[in-house]
Amino acid sequence: MTVLVVYGSRYGATRGIAERLAEILRSCGHQVDVQEGSALVDAKPYDAFVIGSAAYQGSWLKGPVEFVMRHIDLLADRPVWLFSSGPLGTSPTDDEGRDLLEMTRPSQFMELEEALAPRGMRVFFGALDPDRLHFLDKMVRRLPTGRRLLPAGDFRDWRAVDAWAREIAADLPGDVAQGGVS
Ligand SMILES: Cc1cc2nc3c(=O)[nH]c(=O)nc-3n(C[C@H](O)[C@H](O)[C@H](O)COP(=O)(O)O)c2cc1C
Repeated sequence: MTVLVVYGSRYGATRGIAERLAEILRSCGHQVDVQEGSALVDAKPYDAFVIGSAAYQGSWLKGPVEFVMRHIDLLADRPVWLFSSGPLGTSPTDDEGRDLLEMTRPSQFMELEEALAPRGMRVFFGALDPDRLHFLDKMVRRLPTGRRLLPAGDFRDWRAVDAWAREIAADLPGDVAQGGVS
């Protein structure tokens, strides 16, 4: 099948996840393109879509949101998976013991659930390099909550990313091989 992976990424962490998803899907025999959400693409030729974004202040970036809005009718008729990259740190839970991956579901998951009936929605741990942050993001990170919730480091869980890509591949007709990327 032909799959389009669409992403929104401010500093590259989510682009890395999108590229990794594409790599695994290709290794499972699918033809996969990867595009930034803000790019104007013809969505019609694609059989399925994997759409994701970094989360900032609980929300996706503009690019993937606009992509979904531009193609909402077509997406509603085709298999769609949504992902988000966001929480940072090594603990699976927050200070109150709640599952971080649950707590950081972006508002778009709820908004798009009914419109697109996605086959899957997944949050992945992200990455943050403080030296690369734009001025405003640096300021947010200096606030007390920012200091607590936005530690520096690369926390992307490649095993979880790979496993999800294989789940998607298995759910797509035409899966011809077991993903073998290491
Ligand atoms: C200012 C700022 C705000 C953030 N807000 C959130 C948030 O609300 N929820 C979340 O899960 N992650 C949040 N993050 C973490 C980023 O989503 C994470 O670092 C992500 O992997 C960055 O991806 P990118 O490099 O593709 O932009 C925030 C990071 C910064 C710097």
